[in-house]
Amino acid sequence: MFYAFHDFEKNETLMIGLFKKSQLNGKAEEIDRQLNGQLTQLLKDGDVSSTKAKVSKIFTPSLPGVKRLYVVGLGREAEFTFEDAKHCFAEAIQMIHKDRKQELTVCLDTFVSDRVNANDAAHALAESAMLSSYEVQDYKHKSNEPERPLENVYVLTDHDLKEVQASLHVGQVYGHATNSARTLVNMPGNMLTATDLASYAAELAAKYEFECEILEKEEMEELGMGGLLAVNQGSSEPPKMIVLKYQGKETWDDVIGLVGKGITFDTGGYSLKTKDGIVGMKSDMGGAASVLGAMEAIGELRPEQNVLAVIPSTDNMISATAMKPDDVIVSLSGKTIEILNTDAEGRLALADGLTYAKHHGASMLIDVATLTGGIIVALGTETTGAMTNHEPLYEELRQAAEEAGEAIWQLPITEKDKKRVKNSQMADLNNSPGREGHAIMAGTFLGEFAEQTPWVHLDIAGTATTNKSTCFGPKGGTGVMVRTLVTFVERFAGNM
Ligand code: BES
Ligand code: MN
Ligand code: ZN
Repeated sequence: MFYAFHDFEKNETLMIGLFKKSQLNGKAEEIDRQLNGQLTQLLKDGDVSSTKAKVSKIFTPSLPGVKRLYVVGLGREAEFTFEDAKHCFAEAIQMIHKDRKQELTVCLDTFVSDRVNANDAAHALAESAMLSSYEVQDYKHKSNEPERPLENVYVLTDHDLKEVQASLHVGQVYGHATNSARTLVNMPGNMLTATDLASYAAELAAKYEFECEILEKEEMEELGMGGLLAVNQGSSEPPKMIVLKYQGKETWDDVIGLVGKGITFDTGGYSLKTKDGIVGMKSDMGGAASVLGAMEAIGELRPEQNVLAVIPSTDNMISATAMKPDDVIVSLSGKTIEILNTDAEGRLALADGLTYAKHHGASMLIDVATLTGGIIVALGTETTGAMTNHEPLYEELRQAAEEAGEAIWQLPITEKDKKRVKNSQMADLNNSPGREGHAIMAGTFLGEFAEQTPWVHLDIAGTATTNKSTCFGPKGGTGVMVRTLVTFVERFAGNM
């Protein structure tokens, strides 16, 4: 799909980057010369722009073998970052994808700046190409023949081909894994049950040789997974506790545990959601999708690090057997929980997920969950909320998120917050201490199950889906945190 070359053969579709400069140079100058100064003239006339992320298409019958040239404005060279490169490539590729071109040659070196070397540019190109050409797999009957997507991108560079090719691969894997998470999030609840999610995980395991364990309801009952079982109580679909193990080191220690909320549909249960609040709740397995997306990338890139994925999965339904407010349940950890709100179900399932990850040897924990509407009120839909019991681990994750270009922001846990989640006449904990700071209450509750194990909680309720399309993809699932988790694992492998 992405191929690095030193020499340009010929391709009807060509792409170059253009920094804001008084003089064209390098490949741009060469092309301008072949076009008898047409590029310079178009720039002068304002028909081609060097403004950041502006894409112009020009037809070039006088350029041998080339029919059309996409000129991508890059802004000022000194200010051009890795993030800018991703943005510019996404705009350009989206246009080319919409123009339904199947083949493209990119003059990579025209995108290289002081801050963005050829390898960064290659990563940015491949990742953005994957993300920006993503289309939601819908169930519409289409009258037209399916159109062919962009298939091959030839990357022309004077830099080390091996390195550029490797960076293209990493970018492609990051983009593809993110798209896989998007597809899972977009799937309707009736088509992606806990059973379906478990099958998907098992297929991933087979493909990448992960160890795979899928716990059935009876085994959960034996183990006493009262949290996940309580959420499942109202359902006619069986619950699944999904476990994947990737062993990247000689011994099973230093294990990064990734725990993803896998609620395939959240009605709220007896604390029923409103008719408006319930729409979109097929995305309540967004955390599971992020973790599975990350595992796909880990399976491809095979870092020297042990990674454990744990996904408690069920839907949250109503029936005569469903859990009720006032019920008291016993979690896998042994801690008892008074149910005050059946719509605070994610933390019940995740409590068992965190405990089970520890049973499987996780020495650090990262949970990812569409956990609270409160995080949307606090941080909006661009920033993922984070909480931790271990500042150094959080700092590692913060840096990984920055490198991956995904925004996260930390919320505090205070001793008084801990008192609020323990405030119950009947049990060790309650699952809903009230609306004040309820995103913090959910995270604080989970912290009680992480206990002494270093842990970071990521609340993606606001970021797992988007209701507007951008150059990075359509509305719907975003695959948020896939790239952050993979970057975190890769950085960790490098540091050890
Ligand atoms: N899945 C929801 C959180 C959510 C809300 C995700 C909106 C995406 C968009 C979660 O299970 C939930 O219902 N949380 C409640 C918690 C409350 C009952 C303490 C919420 O945020 O209202
Ligand atoms: Mn809920
Ligand atoms: Zn939920």
